Amino acid sequence: MTSADPGTDQTDTFDIVVLGGGSGGYACALRATELGLSVALVEQGKLGGTCLHQGCIPTKALLHAAEVADAARESAKFGVKASLDGIDMPGVHSYKDGVISRLYKGLQGLISAHKVEYVEGTGRLSSPTTVTVGDRVLTGRHVVLATGSTPRLLPGLEVGGRIATSAQALTLDHVPERVVVLGGGVIGVEFASVYKSFGAEVTVVEALPRLVASEDEAVSKALERAFKKRKITVRTGARFASATDGADAVTITLESGDTIDADLLLVAVGRGPVTADLGYEEAGVTLERGFVPTDERCRTGIPGVYAVGDIVPGLQLAHRGFAQGIFVAEDIAGLAPAPVDEQTIPRVTYCEPEITAVGMTEARAREEYGDDVSTYEYNLGGNGKSQILQTQGFVKLVRRTDGPVVGVHMIGARMSEQAGEAQLIVGWEALPDDVAPLVHAHPTQNEALGEAHLALAGKPLHAHS
Ligand code: NAI
Repeated sequence: MTSADPGTDQTDTFDIVVLGGGSGGYACALRATELGLSVALVEQGKLGGTCLHQGCIPTKALLHAAEVADAARESAKFGVKASLDGIDMPGVHSYKDGVISRLYKGLQGLISAHKVEYVEGTGRLSSPTTVTVGDRVLTGRHVVLATGSTPRLLPGLEVGGRIATSAQALTLDHVPERVVVLGGGVIGVEFASVYKSFGAEVTVVEALPRLVASEDEAVSKALERAFKKRKITVRTGARFASATDGADAVTITLESGDTIDADLLLVAVGRGPVTADLGYEEAGVTLERGFVPTDERCRTGIPGVYAVGDIVPGLQLAHRGFAQGIFVAEDIAGLAPAPVDEQTIPRVTYCEPEITAVGMTEARAREEYGDDVSTYEYNLGGNGKSQILQTQGFVKLVRRTDGPVVGVHMIGARMSEQAGEAQLIVGWEALPDDVAPLVHAHPTQNEALGEAHLALAGKPLHAHS
């Protein structure tokens, strides 16, 4: 403990009190203790939060089980005799829960080894320097708000029966025959992909004109083509009106008047911040549509009070939360870290085929630079490893004409693994000529990224310039 106000209970006074033990909160706690600061971490549910228990980790385990199912179903394509006998949901859950439980134990060990004061219970910001948990008042020289997000619902929609959000869908004990996924954003397309691979009949209902609407338009088109090939029905430009959970099915009515019957309606229309009734506004913290706006140094405007993760407007991604949490710890410790650059945070959607993007879409770049933008699309048809995997897709580069690459967009099986190099290219403002001479291993999918830059530098190998 490095500071304590005279007259307060020293054992409950810390350099930092973190409210929320998800990605942003625990990353902040770990980094701060590494830097010699004393930290209390308050969590009402399970350490690790949404990412570990209800988000990234469990959904990616389901997606991996889905990939295994697809491999069995499509084995003949590779000359292998195997068949898919079915999906054993309890077995899937036990695999998924095993993964979570190992990571959970590891994380608990880390928190305890770092001597973070872990406080179980619902915390409330009772003043800009205190968090109250039951009878206990934790005083912090600094307070970090990291209370995360929760699935949004639409008016008239209630969870229960055949209507679920991703939280309930993660523990469903059977594969529904017919699934309607409401929302064709990240969660929607990932679950659509899982259920299709598990054998369900899947329809995605999306109000906007395209799936994954925040991605480059070419990527949305390619995903829609791939879903069509997988026999996933995609209804874009279709706005949800109501849902009735009847005796035999849930009936979804669209604003057009069309109805669709399903055995599960999965609602994936976004996630909202968890900030209500936590004392934030009473302590002077400004809320905008429930979010906590901050400056680039994660400061809320109330001295000593920071916010990180999904409650801060911007990308709702675990790795953004980690980065912000670490940033705040280092800032408080006086290391003067550089702010987290939102523009170069990689975005990955783990449906089949996978989508990975870093930086600006073509449309965004044209808004920013006008005609001073050029693009190049390298088709995975020319990439040996992608052919071996039998996947289709592309790497699309967006650059300022005669300038650096400002956006990389990729779609295809396993393309999530290419996020790393794409991030360095965009983050370091590389020119195609900087990347072209780097030798990429053959045969890998990473080679596609190398070849796209070779082509953009005017020296294509397995592509046309
Ligand atoms: P989202 O914002 O990505 O997508 C929600 C979709 O629902 C939008 O396309 C929206 O147009 C549509 N929608 C809204 N109201 C509608 C209506 N009345 N009728 C039809 N469509 C409607 O939100 P999502 O998918 O729920 O994900 C929440 C957050 O979680 C995202 O910010 C995402 O980045 C994050 N996440 C990230 C993952 C990853 O990095 N792989 C995985 C899962 C979630």
